Amino acid sequence: MSSQVDTNAPRGVVNFPLYRSLPRLIKDPLKELERMGRAADGEIFQLDLGASRPWVVTHPDHVQQVLRREAENYLREGVFWRPLRTLMGDSILAERAEWEFSKRVLQPVFTTRNVHAITDQMAAAVNTAVEPLGAAAAMGRPIQVLPEMGRIVNETVIKVLFGDKISTAEAELLIPAMDEVATSIACRFLLPFMPRAIPLPGDRAFKKAVQVMDDTLFGLVARYREEPGPGHDIFTALCRARTPDGRALPDQWIRDNLLAMFATSTETTTVALTWLWPLLAAHPRVAERLYDEIGRVVGDDRVVRPEHLRDLEYVKRVVQELLRLFPVGWMFPRVAVRPGVIGGVPIKAGQTLLISPFLTHRLASVWDRPLEFDPDRFAPERAAGRHRYAYFPFGGGPHQCIGRHVFNVEAQLILASILSRFRPVAPPLAAVEPRIGATLRPDRDIEMILTAVGPVQ
Ligand code: HEM
Repeated sequence: MSSQVDTNAPRGVVNFPLYRSLPRLIKDPLKELERMGRAADGEIFQLDLGASRPWVVTHPDHVQQVLRREAENYLREGVFWRPLRTLMGDSILAERAEWEFSKRVLQPVFTTRNVHAITDQMAAAVNTAVEPLGAAAAMGRPIQVLPEMGRIVNETVIKVLFGDKISTAEAELLIPAMDEVATSIACRFLLPFMPRAIPLPGDRAFKKAVQVMDDTLFGLVARYREEPGPGHDIFTALCRARTPDGRALPDQWIRDNLLAMFATSTETTTVALTWLWPLLAAHPRVAERLYDEIGRVVGDDRVVRPEHLRDLEYVKRVVQELLRLFPVGWMFPRVAVRPGVIGGVPIKAGQTLLISPFLTHRLASVWDRPLEFDPDRFAPERAAGRHRYAYFPFGGGPHQCIGRHVFNVEAQLILASILSRFRPVAPPLAAVEPRIGATLRPDRDIEMILTAVGPVQ
């Protein structure tokens, strides 16, 4: 254990003195958290933020206790959830009865069976969305990675998950507004104790973007709520939902859930796929194995089909390892309802716990050479026997991500579709740092040049 740890703390509790940790937390919060996580090495530790002292829980056993075994005692409430709650009200991202009801309505869209049924549509949408990259490749023009990944993900998600009900004009309003919401909320997310009456950077942009989203989403609700059609998409499920006594739901509830689903299904996938390119640039041997597998499986017509997924074993491992190093849902807080004990440490009712796959995925006592990008960690023989909560990019327990199958299929299709047609040249990982906010975005714009494989597409 590091010499920075306060050894006078009670047994079983690791403390980091405020005077040492606070300046570093302000300067580079993620680096400092990572350093503390490494030093505590799986023991629960308290983050001294002055006004608040949340516990940080990283050991896989403890994570399992909070997210699953005692999930009813550790709820998604408190100041950390306030910005999201303000934005998305009583949606699937809430807690208790409101969450349960929304979840019951939306879950059927995401069953393995339904995801399987929409894979054809998803593959077609991905192939179409990847095609325009050919123009930039032909001219040797660099692309901006995050907006391009966002475009491909948005086009796919709108077609498949929202039943193609969002028009191009509406998408052109929603997408930049969602992007603005995701970035402008960062300050509130990092300073959750700050009263709303005190203005913070980003507040005005946030309000304006929410207004644009509201105008567009309420317009969609008005257009479709009476006749949503027969589809199995998110929109149809929300418009068709009824309360237990048979009443239709208010427009506001549909809007809250549309916004929650649009945010969770686009921002996460876009940011995860953005990290892939600097990682591949830094690991040419991984890239070569990917090219080889994709070339062999997808073949010369360079059109990815659902049946290819079964044979894209290495693509799957790369996507899994990508989310180990960059779990874009990097931290999710809980509040203790009643007193509890975690790893021998007493937790008082009302205290906040921070769960972070980013920290757990980087623990040396859990992962061999944790900072190395090594997709073969997910080869069946190496993954066998691993703790269920050593790897949890999608959370766990009752709130486990309902979009995880969609993400896996979509990410593999996008990766295979791009690399069956192009070879990328991106800056290596060392040139880019993650910056914390609601997700784990890169701290700068990443440009990439694509070259067409074989005849220009
Ligand atoms: C890289 C991709 C993704 C990551 C890393 C991710 C991560 C997560 C995590 C960590 C949670 C748990 C939050 C908690 O316990 O408080 C979660 C929940 C959720 N995710 Fe995802 N997610 C991803 C993609 C998606 C997609 C594609 C969708 C929808 C299509 C989605 C929809 C949701 C929803 C609705 C919840 C809330 C579930 C509940 O509380 O019952 N996510 N996600």
